[in-house]
Amino acid sequence: MSDVLELQDVSVVREGRALVDQVSWSVKEGERWVILGPNGAGKTTLLNIASSYLYPSKGTATILGETLGTPGTDVFELRPRIGMAGLAMADKLPKKQTVLQTVLTAAYGMTAGWQEEYEDIDEQRARAFLDRLGMSEYLDRKFGTLSEGERKRTLIARALMTDPELLLLDEPAAGLDLGGREDLVRRLGRLARDPIAPSMIMVTHHVEEIAPGFTHVLMIRQGKILAAGPLELELTSRNLSLCFGLPLVVEQVGDRWTAQGLPMV
Ligand SMILES: Nc1ncnc2c1ncn2[C@@H]1O[C@H](COP(=O)(O)OP(=O)(O)OP(=O)(O)O)[C@@H](O)[C@H]1O
Ligand SMILES: [Mg+2]
Repeated sequence: MSDVLELQDVSVVREGRALVDQVSWSVKEGERWVILGPNGAGKTTLLNIASSYLYPSKGTATILGETLGTPGTDVFELRPRIGMAGLAMADKLPKKQTVLQTVLTAAYGMTAGWQEEYEDIDEQRARAFLDRLGMSEYLDRKFGTLSEGERKRTLIARALMTDPELLLLDEPAAGLDLGGREDLVRRLGRLARDPIAPSMIMVTHHVEEIAPGFTHVLMIRQGKILAAGPLELELTSRNLSLCFGLPLVVEQVGDRWTAQGLPMV
């Protein structure tokens, strides 16, 4: 299996501090990773590297076979191969565009600029992705008027539009109510199990948000890797407790996960 992402000794240093500290990590084709870690651990920074928008201060990052910062790598060719759905993207998108336009513009590598020249085939694809995310009834709604959950689902549909080889999701379920979370986990699970779906890396704060079909977990704390490997092996009470710095018990219930703190004694 070839590498989707290969980080070797990657550090990101800002103001003398390592936000990501000597991280070596590889994601192979067919794997779907969850990144867990406390606030400020460096999760979003790692995703920014994986999306090719941030270069490591030290070490090498190879994404879909292209090594960042080397003469043979053109990030403008690389970026359409990567789908990114995160809050930073939501802020860049015009609020007055409709949901359909918001997804459709992704096919043209733009965040704005609705034109009349969009191909029918692209519109059909945009509609199909929105349908898959349960957004068919919102096609003509302005992006800026959507609820948090609706916006997140639109962003995922948008990230899928370029048919990416790698899909990056930064806290896709944050801010959703219980029904919204369960709905999204179900949809992500369906996507994760789809053999032609892209490789996925999802950042989350809650093990309850890990959809069936995800295979691996990376735990980070203060920029350093604490555990990395198959969920069944690494998502243990011990690792999770070390990661978040408090005693936690993690359990697998069916094909889902749950975690809670140990009662105080
Ligand atoms: N440009 C920057 N300059 C200095 N510090 C930064 C910069 N960008 C991020 N940081 C810091 O780096 C650390 C890691 O940030 P990051 O956004 O990757 O954390 P995170 O794990 O995604 O956290 P959260 O769970 O809160 O989203 C944080 O302490 C943040 O304040
Ligand atoms: Mg973050």
